Amino acid sequence: MPVLTNIGVLYTCAGEGGQADVHPVKNAALVWQRDKIVWTGRETDLPDQYQQEETVDAQGGAVIPGLVECHTHLAFGGWRSDEFELRSLGRPYIEIARAGGGILSTVRDTREASEDELVEKAMGHLTQMRKLGITTVECKSGYGLNQEDEIKLLNVYRRLDVMQPLDIISTFLGAHMVPPEFKDDREAYISLLIREMIPYVADNQLARFCDIFIEETAFSIDEAYTILSNAIDYGLLLKLHVDQLSAGGGAELAAELGAVSADHLEYISDKGIRALANTGVVAVSLPLASFYLRQPALPARKLIESGVGVAVSTDFNPGSAPSYHLPFAMSLACTFQHMSPAEVLKGATFYAAKALRMEDDIGSVQPGKRADFAILDTPSVNHWMYHFRGNICRSVYKDGIQIV
Ligand code: NIG
Ligand code: FE
Repeated sequence: MPVLTNIGVLYTCAGEGGQADVHPVKNAALVWQRDKIVWTGRETDLPDQYQQEETVDAQGGAVIPGLVECHTHLAFGGWRSDEFELRSLGRPYIEIARAGGGILSTVRDTREASEDELVEKAMGHLTQMRKLGITTVECKSGYGLNQEDEIKLLNVYRRLDVMQPLDIISTFLGAHMVPPEFKDDREAYISLLIREMIPYVADNQLARFCDIFIEETAFSIDEAYTILSNAIDYGLLLKLHVDQLSAGGGAELAAELGAVSADHLEYISDKGIRALANTGVVAVSLPLASFYLRQPALPARKLIESGVGVAVSTDFNPGSAPSYHLPFAMSLACTFQHMSPAEVLKGATFYAAKALRMEDDIGSVQPGKRADFAILDTPSVNHWMYHFRGNICRSVYKDGIQIV
């Protein structure tokens, strides 16, 4: 039963309390057995029964739960740095999308890539992500947009889940956009989603969640209602990309359908905030997407004041958020979303776990939870978020085993 000692400060990030309650314990110790935490507290209070166990020295560092990355589009073919150049010079994201670039450009590259190529590329990202302290990663399909290529992406995630230590949680995003071959017959694509793709994904347990992009260039509220109701019938949990580029009533739909999370929300209306209030739907903020697309930040203060938990994630994808650097996203959330470092830490741990409906298992360092934690070279969460450096993570444990 290893004991982690000499922890400068342990942020347990237990769910109790509000967004800012990260429950710090100074001069702490942590005990785990196999893949589970068994004790946490002040080192001076370490029970006798653990005194003789093997120790690991945290060297005065801060310890946090393994970061939970709750929204990525991890596997994709190609990159879109040419669009980044255009956007840097002022061309709007939506205009590039309307001209056939954007998501559809990645769909072309992803269809061309083999499953093995996608596995290898995504594996490279996961290897870097774990070094940042991330221990769980949600991954969406959505760049295949036909049965064969959507399943290819979900198979990539299934393979990655067994090939490397991070937990991979898959989401079916066949409703990311209507693919070009159905542009004159959207009904036929929606019918394919409902009659074939969603049933196949659910029957073969290829994903836990079904997601959709609600936007003028993607799907309408009515179409989303039809598709998501079908996903519920097949036992999939819901996540929604909503109110990203305009206020479209997506948050209200997420509340109505009992979604696990509503993601983006840069343009959420006051009505949308009222709809989410006290429903338990997690608002997933994606500050890198706001940053790269020069969109307004999600109104975190209003959401938190209304009793909505706010998660923080990267949205890693080749277009709107081409970075998997979650600590960078967290730092942006402090500056642009007006969240305190503690609120952001709880957003990338407990609330991110809640956005995956896994908060009983991960996202906090408490007895009974999985032994997923990271040791950071910083005196406090405030200092970490304020003095931004490439990577301050010293080591990472996943299911009780050191992986970094
Ligand atoms: O979450 N909003 C929709 N989908 C992605 C963008 C994907 C892309 O640009 O390739 C997002 O921002
Ligand atoms: Fe996204």
